[in-house]
Amino acid sequence: MEEKTITQVPKPIILKLGGSVITMKNESFTLNKRAITRLTKEIKRADVNSLVIVHGGGSFGHPVAKQYKIDKGYKDSSQIIGFAKTHQAMTTLNKHVIDSLINQNIPAVEIQPASIIITKSGRIHIMEERPLTKLLELGFTPVLYGDAVPDSNIGFAILSGDQLVSQLAIRLNADRIVIGVDVDGLYTADPKTNPSAQLIQHITLQQLKKLQNKIEKTNVTDVTGGMLGKILELIPALEHGVNVRIVNALKPDNVYRALEGEEVVSTFIEKG
Ligand code: IPE
Repeated sequence: MEEKTITQVPKPIILKLGGSVITMKNESFTLNKRAITRLTKEIKRADVNSLVIVHGGGSFGHPVAKQYKIDKGYKDSSQIIGFAKTHQAMTTLNKHVIDSLINQNIPAVEIQPASIIITKSGRIHIMEERPLTKLLELGFTPVLYGDAVPDSNIGFAILSGDQLVSQLAIRLNADRIVIGVDVDGLYTADPKTNPSAQLIQHITLQQLKKLQNKIEKTNVTDVTGGMLGKILELIPALEHGVNVRIVNALKPDNVYRALEGEEVVSTFIEKG
């Protein structure tokens, strides 16, 4: 029987829910239950036609991955249990997200990145996205997450939700990307430590690349509080023509507004 092609799937919105939003970042293995419930209600209310959700690790995935140095690749056999524990932490967190979505009657289905992706030195190399596109086509909401994944060069690696979002946007020919984080968007400096930091409300791909060059040349670490590094992962999607909006998902209604395409305090990034 003939397979339906990707073009028959309505162009999805890819929504990332940052780990700093759905978990309590400073308390290990602690959910931000209120945020999860509120966000799933906002997603329900927005009722977008085609949606893929990717969530981060926050205080579930990151501490375990760090403890066993999973991001450094395979060094010795003592890390093997650490890989399993990192993946377990992510599936535990994912279950809470899925439960909350299904409670709102959203037909959420988990797709395990560790089972469909092989990275090569940390970059997505092989990805079997056909079950995902088939589910999308049928009206499901696939839910993925940053994960510990097998790697063809270094044994295993940590795949960030941001790199995953970027690849999904390209492979699924996404309509746009919405990134929900714990700040209002990309700032000129770290808003958590620098009171004169200003929100960049609009930036083009070219300007973003200039910012990247400047930072690389001056050899300073990410002055924007880590946000720039996350955004740079989205460059391939931007190059593909997919726009990105970064919103503060801890503020009620922001994710709803972003999904609906309404005005919202945010950083909007486009190819330009
Ligand atoms: C991290 O994913 C996944 C693991 C540590 C296993 P992300 O890097 O996307 O998570 P957040 O959003 O920054 O917490």
